[in-house]
Amino acid sequence: MLTATDFDYVRRLVLERSAILLEPGKEYLVELRLKPIVRMRGLRDLGELVQLLRTDVSGSLQREVVEAMTTNETSFFRDVHPFETLRQSVLPELLRNRAAERVLNIWCGAASSGQEVYSIAMTLREHFPELAHWRVSIVATDLSREMILRCREARYSQLEINRGLPANLLIKYFERADMDWRIREDVRRMIDFREMNLAGNWAGLPVCDLVFLRNVLIYFDDATKRQILGKVRGLMRPGGYLFLGSSETTLNLDSRFEQVKFDRTLCYRVRA
Ligand SMILES: C[S@@+](CC[C@H](N)C(=O)[O-])C[C@H]1O[C@@H](n2cnc3c(N)ncnc32)[C@H](O)[C@@H]1O
Repeated sequence: MLTATDFDYVRRLVLERSAILLEPGKEYLVELRLKPIVRMRGLRDLGELVQLLRTDVSGSLQREVVEAMTTNETSFFRDVHPFETLRQSVLPELLRNRAAERVLNIWCGAASSGQEVYSIAMTLREHFPELAHWRVSIVATDLSREMILRCREARYSQLEINRGLPANLLIKYFERADMDWRIREDVRRMIDFREMNLAGNWAGLPVCDLVFLRNVLIYFDDATKRQILGKVRGLMRPGGYLFLGSSETTLNLDSRFEQVKFDRTLCYRVRA
């Protein structure tokens, strides 16, 4: 069992390092996520783990704990419709509007284990062959080092493949890796993976035509959401699109974004 003081210590640490809110009532979640670390490190209990955290000079245990508190749920072509919108409406429009300079910059800001950004990359490969003659940059970032390593590895279990990846894309863009599947190297090379805290410094991101920031704002308080959306705005090229998760919105947070409805997907664009 986690004492109230230990919960408060973990809550503050996670907030400070990731902006993820752990409200009262989330004690069970902290226990669930931290118990494997207690086991792996051969510690007595959660109390001993928190004691070590308090004196963790190297910061490696603190990082491990913060990463353990992230939720990395994702899948290929998650929610389907945003990717249909991307293919049928958003990318054709961007390709028309950027035809003169032939530059397209994409950022996926909460990449988790990579399925989302690889879904984008496969969409580009599969449906927009003309982009072979463009300068296309795809950057994918996540707070979690472990997730970024997984993204680079691009190795997925059959179970993960079964969650949303069409068979034709599996055949075309993956190769066998023992019992798993691995994305082909030429697709892996399309993406620049980096560790990055959305609540920290965003140095080095390009000006973007397309930003995917899906299913991550839900973990933050409104002030952090506002701050992040403001920074996203500053990063977007005129006419660029922001994709959020289906339960996320810019409404009441940032009035400089306008909603654009495509069939069954809401996207966001900076007002002209
Ligand atoms: C639920 S996943 C969403 C993955 C993907 N975007 C999707 O919609 O399928 C949330 C991801 O956000 C990341 N995350 C949480 N807080 C973050 C922060 N402060 N900075 C960057 N990434 C963060 C987590 O590590 C996790 O991989």
